[in-house]
Amino acid sequence: MMPKLYVAMVGLPASGKSTLANRIRDDLQGEGIACAIFNNGELRRRLTGPESTESQWYAPGNEEGREIRERIALQNMEEARKWLEEGGDVAILDATNGSRRRRRLLEQTLSDHPVLFVECVNEDPLLREACIRNKAKLPEYAGYSEEEAVQSFKARIAYYESIYEHLSEEKFWLCVDTMANRILAESPMEGSPFYPAIRELVVTTWVKNLYLVRHGQTEFNAEGRIGGDPLLSAKGRTQAASLAAHMEGVPIDYIFTSTRRRSHETAMYLARTRPDVIIRALPEFDELNAGLCENMCYQDIRVQMPEVTRQRNADKFNYCYPEGESYAMVMQRVLRGLRRALFLSGGAPTCIVGHQAINRVILSMFLRQRMEDIPYMFVPQNQYYRIESTPKLRLVERIPYASKR
Ligand code: F6P
Repeated sequence: MMPKLYVAMVGLPASGKSTLANRIRDDLQGEGIACAIFNNGELRRRLTGPESTESQWYAPGNEEGREIRERIALQNMEEARKWLEEGGDVAILDATNGSRRRRRLLEQTLSDHPVLFVECVNEDPLLREACIRNKAKLPEYAGYSEEEAVQSFKARIAYYESIYEHLSEEKFWLCVDTMANRILAESPMEGSPFYPAIRELVVTTWVKNLYLVRHGQTEFNAEGRIGGDPLLSAKGRTQAASLAAHMEGVPIDYIFTSTRRRSHETAMYLARTRPDVIIRALPEFDELNAGLCENMCYQDIRVQMPEVTRQRNADKFNYCYPEGESYAMVMQRVLRGLRRALFLSGGAPTCIVGHQAINRVILSMFLRQRMEDIPYMFVPQNQYYRIESTPKLRLVERIPYASKR
């Protein structure tokens, strides 16, 4: 008989627990495993009134709030237990479960099958703020202004923080940096068929429908001039328009650009037919900074600064422009930008309008390219990429705008 499992999420509000819980469920269900989520927050919203939105309800000294929250947790445990009894394989308990006391209660109450705790840590201030702003839009905050809701949610988090303890004493657990898809620490569950699958999926960069576009041509591109902040050329505007025409009807909920005008201008063509699209500029996606060589032509650099050309040709990946950057340096920030973009879009269809060096680096993350080859990857301006990456599928498709989808 197939063993059964409880997965109990652990983490402060807005740490990415529900996103990860959904991924675990979707992935296991794809393997034919019966998996369901039991979410304390949803149950609370069903069972209690507006009082449970107020931050005070979460104060550790608020006996009434504490008692109701514990009752809700027990009711969810009971439902999860029944569900496994009736044929389910994996029950995910999605709640903060931040104190050792609560986790002991889970282990004691759910003693019929092992409990694997999965702790989510999100220390990226930008992502935390974005998650909090999303929570502030929940219907339970309908009577609050956005700022009031944000402040109230922050106060709620502070109460949770005051009693929060990291995993350590529990029997089986994984602690995950949800932004970096990295396992920070673990107490493995040897012999479980689910453990390696869950372990793999928390470290996978999970992408469904990521479109990677390079901005259209600029006058600088036409002249072989690098960097700067030029606008699109007439040809670039035509390219952006045909890209938008080619992608018409393709769902895109988020567009991430760099802070450069050529990237934003290209994105605006895509936004024309998508009134609800969220456009966000991330400086992590700015083109490689060529330092003292910014705004120069490759030809001028060859003549006026032959050392730059010689050294760059010798090791293009590691070469750092005077007062500028190397590919190796860019890689760090682009990786952070990609993680932020993927986290902020929460799995919705997403487009990144990047630059030549930036798109090379992003592509290399999915193609597992050798470092020294990255600066030579082909990133044309009249084609875009569609990327999918899950534990079961890795796909990088290059699509010319002119072709039919
Ligand atoms: O030429 C366009 C450009 O985006 C420049 O702004 C940038 O310096 C360059 O591409 C990066 O490509 P490479 O590393 O091949 O010079």
